[in-house]
Amino acid sequence: MPVARQDTYASVSARERWIPRGLANTHPIFITRAEGSRVWDADGKEYLDFCAGIGVLNVGHCHPRVVQAVRDQAARLTHTCFQVLMYDEYVELAARLSALVGPARKTVLFTTGAEATENAVKIARAHTRRPGVIAFSGAFHGRTQLALTMTASNPAYRQNFGPLSAEVYHAPFPDEYRGWTTDRAFSALDELLATEVTPDQVAAVIIEPQLGEGGFIPAPAAFLQRLRDLTRRHGIVLILDEVQSGFGRTGRMFGYEHAGIEPDVVTMAKSLAGGLPLSAVVGKAEIMDAPLAGGLGGTYGGNPLACAAALAVLDVFDADDLVARGARLGAQLRDGLVTLQARVPAIGDVRGLGAMLAIELVRDRATKEPDAERAQQVIDRARERGLLLLKCGPHKNVVRFLPPLTTAPDDIARGLGILDTVFQAS
Ligand SMILES: Cc1ncc(COP(=O)(O)O)c(C=O)c1O
Repeated sequence: MPVARQDTYASVSARERWIPRGLANTHPIFITRAEGSRVWDADGKEYLDFCAGIGVLNVGHCHPRVVQAVRDQAARLTHTCFQVLMYDEYVELAARLSALVGPARKTVLFTTGAEATENAVKIARAHTRRPGVIAFSGAFHGRTQLALTMTASNPAYRQNFGPLSAEVYHAPFPDEYRGWTTDRAFSALDELLATEVTPDQVAAVIIEPQLGEGGFIPAPAAFLQRLRDLTRRHGIVLILDEVQSGFGRTGRMFGYEHAGIEPDVVTMAKSLAGGLPLSAVVGKAEIMDAPLAGGLGGTYGGNPLACAAALAVLDVFDADDLVARGARLGAQLRDGLVTLQARVPAIGDVRGLGAMLAIELVRDRATKEPDAERAQQVIDRARERGLLLLKCGPHKNVVRFLPPLTTAPDDIARGLGILDTVFQAS
């Protein structure tokens, strides 16, 4: 039946009428314009955006170089499907991403983070001819079927979507705040390999260097180093999921660099193309070449517009020394959060690498009982005062900060000021 067009669809009631509840919204506002670290809603109200599209806009909203690159590309060539007709931008990007990770690497491009993690596993299985995959509690690797099976950060991501994929196992993530030291988590992994799946059946171990959705918990360097040793010993492909932590977010280009390890395969997305949908799997050439011709791909993977945007993003990183700038921004934000924690007992923990920071809200610092209500309150009150924040963590009590790495120090200070007012008022 034809539907009469409305003057505006920017209303929560229209959203509820036309879009299913399974797609949840953090903030009940509609955005019409964005620039740098700021967005404006349909009523013209300005906000400081420390969500940045869930860590997508490390170069900031509508970075002029990215906008120009997309405009130029749109006027020249928008789509052929790389599998059908090739174009320069895909290969240049593959070369640049491969070089960022290490020598003798190859890169294949997709559209979303979930596609990247699923394809990384496909490649690892084809290389090892083994079925098993080990992921970690608290992990988020996406919402498609294999990815959601590897995900273990919130029941909503998995519930009622079964049967899930076979041969996926979970080991505890080393969450020191909640008693999972490196030794304890590693013993649990050893136990899993002794009792549920033997190493010769495991194709891949996939881990985020810092849990994203799972609560912004960095994996200790020692844990990642031991994981590297174990996977190397058993011929298991070590996949580092850098979808959220990559591109300067942790104060290094990639989060795994903090542990000084060499991954076999790296998944990237989000900030890679500064707002355009693009993901990548980058890995050792001999692993990447395992699938048969035609086994990898997708109609839109590595679309020319997204490749042009990503090349511009990489140029911005070079020109603006954005990794170092992000590390400075992270240090400023961390100082502010630690100062706030000294005054606010509800802030049980301040944690994260670089500019991938979070506060965990608890009812009591000794019991560490999660306080999801307080976290929601903080997010709502901050928004009322013009600061946009996001939640994460299995108990929904962690408030995360993902400002663009281009955010001015004054704006970080302003965001911290708003947060301070929010805690004083609550
Ligand atoms: C670490 C990690 N992996 C994978 C994904 C999935 O990415 P996408 O939502 O683009 O499918 C995400 C998304 O938040 C993520 O944070």
